[in-house]
Parts: sequence; structure tokens; C-alpha cells
Amino acid sequence: MAKNLKDLYIDFFISKGHKKLNSASIIPENDPTCLFNTAGMQPLIPYLMGEKHPLGTRLTNYQKCFRLTDLDEVGDKTHHTFFEMLGNWSLGDYFKKESISWSFEFLTKGLKIPVDKLAVTVFKGNDVVPPDNESAEIWESLGIPKERICFLAEEDNWWGPAGTVGPCGPDTEIFYFRSDEETPKNYDPNDKRWVEIWNNVFMQYEKQDDGTFTSLKQKNVDTGMGVERTTAILEHVDDNYKTSIWKDIIKKIESISNKSYENEEDARSMRIIADHIRAIVIISADDANIVPSNTDQGYILRRLIRRMIRYAKKLEIDINSEFDSEIAKMIIKQYEKYYPEVKKNKERILDVLVNEKNKFAHTLEKGLKEFVKITDILKRQNINSINGKTAFRLYDTFGFPIELTVEMAKEQNMDVDIEGFDTCFKEHQEKSRQGSVNKFKGGLSDHSESNIKYHTTTHLLHQALKDVLGNDVNQKGSNINAERLRFDFSYPTKLTEEQKKKVEDIVNQKISEELDVTCEEMSPEKAKEEGAIGLFDNKYGNIVKVYSIGNYSKEICGGPHVHNTRELGVFKIKKEEAVGAGIRRIKATLSN
Ligand code: ALA
Repeated sequence: MAKNLKDLYIDFFISKGHKKLNSASIIPENDPTCLFNTAGMQPLIPYLMGEKHPLGTRLTNYQKCFRLTDLDEVGDKTHHTFFEMLGNWSLGDYFKKESISWSFEFLTKGLKIPVDKLAVTVFKGNDVVPPDNESAEIWESLGIPKERICFLAEEDNWWGPAGTVGPCGPDTEIFYFRSDEETPKNYDPNDKRWVEIWNNVFMQYEKQDDGTFTSLKQKNVDTGMGVERTTAILEHVDDNYKTSIWKDIIKKIESISNKSYENEEDARSMRIIADHIRAIVIISADDANIVPSNTDQGYILRRLIRRMIRYAKKLEIDINSEFDSEIAKMIIKQYEKYYPEVKKNKERILDVLVNEKNKFAHTLEKGLKEFVKITDILKRQNINSINGKTAFRLYDTFGFPIELTVEMAKEQNMDVDIEGFDTCFKEHQEKSRQGSVNKFKGGLSDHSESNIKYHTTTHLLHQALKDVLGNDVNQKGSNINAERLRFDFSYPTKLTEEQKKKVEDIVNQKISEELDVTCEEMSPEKAKEEGAIGLFDNKYGNIVKVYSIGNYSKEICGGPHVHNTRELGVFKIKKEEAVGAGIRRIKATLSN
């Protein structure tokens, strides 16, 4: 049964009047503050804030999510980098009663979880929001005893915003008692045998820049259920990697490495390899076209591949074999049914793995030379220890796992200052943690004036590029921050100065024509018929929103946009460069 958790969930919510959304890209669109989507609600932020969604007010899906915050914990039994979040949403439609009753019905009838195994928490209230007695009463009326309904503070029962500003609200969380022992009468938040399986957020507030809360235009429901954790519960295991999702993959790694999952240290390496290869597959399959690089998502992809290879080395797997492609192919097979892009981009996924592995092998080789150089110098100085800083440089620049440095040092009768290495490592970790916190700052729901302006300008630029370079030009990615827009598009060669100038002039011309921006809803077929530019085809449902800028640009898009191009200012292309084979990138600004 658990194998089909995703299907059961979606079918259940469709039966309650929801429309299924396809998973959005793993990268938030038009949101530079965030590298990856970390929750199912993220792609829906505009609609939670009041934009009309073309599929209506009841939505459900499984969303591709990625949390870098868990990277160091990946290796234990329950953490993942990439994971899938099941969710159902009410956009100003139903509220607590339906949400809670349906959660209860799905768990107890759909998944046949005994009521006696469940407990819930609700918000106990604060200065802004009263205690959530309403949710508690609904739970009690459904058969959850009072002792299993626990009122807790913000740390536990408030969710969001996903960034620093945006939609948020009190939540009610559902827990399952994972143990063969008798379920205690009372729920105890400190008893780790109670594991959270579902979170229903009553999203009715918006956190502002100054830390205050305002009411959203509408009362929403946002829920989130992790696929792996619930699957583990349904399959009665306390290790996600022992579920049907991972079992075969772990078995494969056992056979490739000729080691056993029963050995905890080896198991850790196996879990890292399994988790990372899955994340690599999903990220490189994404239509956002991410390839390994030294910045942003590309850098994360590179780190995942290198870390995976290091742990493969630790298991003494021959990294020049095709072990990674073999595992990737199993994962592709498992996920292609749910994510068409995984099937479509299979070749690209495998290419990314091979190319990056070769590059890494090359770096390791350079590292070996560096190692010989370092040890030669030390020997001449009669020093027989490699200091922490040097060991860290070998790790950071050349990808040497510390174990490898220690092993090679030993062969030279040297030792390594592991404590010093750890200190450098921690410092570096702290720096990169702060880096990613900064990335996430600024809020996911960035519907600031400047963000909206750049968004509309992106539509103009897209059409202008088609006018100047030909209709084959298509959007490959978009990213906006307070200072600029960034637009990736398919085109084989560098743009000439003349072409750039032409594009710039067209956009400025359209801005000066003071064109109205209007929005209509229609079927995707009609949108195509009318010549609308349709991006990321698989994302849309039966009805789409089409934004027109005068008679100049027509594009399928969720919005929001400015009302008239006169709001935009002066457009300037700052940079045009290559970002991959056949893909160019423009960075451009607006000024007053
Ligand atoms: N957005 C909520 C979560 O991630 C449902 O838990």
C-alpha cells in the first residue's frame, strides 16, 4: 500500500474537490532569495496572498523539495536532501473543519492508521493570535481524546513564513506513536517515539519586514506531509532507507561495494550515496537546466556529486566504474512515472554524472601532485605532521577526504592534525551556513514593487529577443532580485553589440508606449492558438492565466505584473554571456 502513498493521497483529495497540480520546478521561479523550494507551498505563495489560481481554490500535489540545511545530517536514518512533500491547499476556500476532518479521514480510513496511534498539537496562543480552541474541539469531536491534544507555543505550532516575510499562521500537527510498546495515554512532546506525520497550517497572516503581522486577504490552508517518513510508518520501519522507496537501491550499493548495510559506518556511506544520487537525478532532470558549476544551484549539484564520490571511495567502490550511472538508472525508473522531466532528460542526467566525475577525478589527481609537493617540503624541514589548514586545503580545493589525507600521510610516516582540520572545517561550515541564511533572507513572497517590475520587463525582453534573434529563442530560466533581472534563453552564439542594442531599444520603446498589462484565463490550447508563449508546459492544468502587454507580448504566467509599462523606467542590458551549451544569459536593470 505504502508504495502508492502519493497516488492514494492525490486521489483522496481529488475526491474532496481538489485539482491536482503538477510539481513545480525544484527552483523557485523569480525568487532570487531562495536556491530551492523547501516546502510545497512555496510555488503557491502568490495565490496564498490573493492572486487567483487558474485551477481554482482547492489544490493538491506532491512537490519536489530540497533542503540544504539537512546536508550534514544526511547519513542518518531519517534525513534527506531532496524529498517529496504531499500537500493540499485551500485558497480562501475551506478552513479548519474540513481540513482537520479530511486529514483524520485520510489517515484512519485511507491509510488505515488506528486512531489510538495518533495525537495532535494545536497553537496555545500569543499576543497576536488567540488559542486555537476551534481546532482542538474539531479533533475531539472526531475521536482524539483530550489527553492527546496538546496546546503548544510558537516554536512548535506556528509555521512560516518560509523566508523572513510572507504568509504564515498557526498550525496543528499530527503525530504517530512509532513503537511496539503500548501507546501512552497522554501525548508527551519530549517523547521521541511520537513522530510528526502531517502539518496543517492555517495561513491567515502575513509577516512584514518590520516583524509585525497583518491579515491576509483570505484564510488559507496549507498542509505538508513528507513522503518518506509516512512511508516508513506505514511499512513499520524506523529507518527511511529500509522502506520500499530505498530498499532496492541500498541492496544495489551493498552488492556493488560488497559491504553490508548492517555495519553502521558503511550504512552511513550507503545512505549518503543513495540520497545524493537521487538528488542529483532530480536536480539535473529539472527543466531549469542546472549543471554543475561554482555558483548557486550548480554549486550544490557539484558538491552533491563530489560528496557522493567521496563516500563511494570510502566504501572502496571503484569510482571509475559505472556504479553511479547504474544507481541513477534505478532512480530514474522509480521516479519517471511521477516526473515526466526525469524521463525526458535521462541522457542529460547521466551526462552530468559522467562529466562531473571525470572532472573530479582530474582534480583529485592534481591534489595528489600537491600532496607530494607538500610532503616533500615538510620532509626537508624535518616536520612529520601535516597541519590542519593544509589538510583542509586538500579537502576544500582538491576534494581530498580527510581519511585519504591521513592514509597517504601514514605511508610517508607522517600524521595529520585532525583537530586543526576539524576547526577549519567548522569555520568553513559556519561561513557557508551564514551564506545560505543570507540567500534565504528577503523573503520568498517577494512581491515587492521592484520584483513585479522586473517580472513584467522579463516578458518584454523575451518577446524582444524573439523579434531580434528569431522565434526559436526560448526562456530557459529567470531570476530576479532587487537590483536586476537575469534571463537565460536558448541561442547558439554570442549576441553582437548591434543585436543587444536592438533588443534594448525595443524594450524601451514598448515601455514608452505606455502599454496596459492585462490578464485573461483560458485553456492552454486556446492560449497556444492565440500565440501565447507557453513556458514549462507540464506545469499547467486545464485553465491558465495569460498576461498580455498591449498587443506586443502574450505569455502564460501566474503574475503578478505592473498595470502599465509606464511604471517600468529605463531598461539597460548590463551583461550577456554563455551559461551552457546553447544557452545565453542576460543581466539587465531598470532605472528611473
Ligand atoms: N508548509 C508547511 C510545512 O512545510 C505545511 O510543514
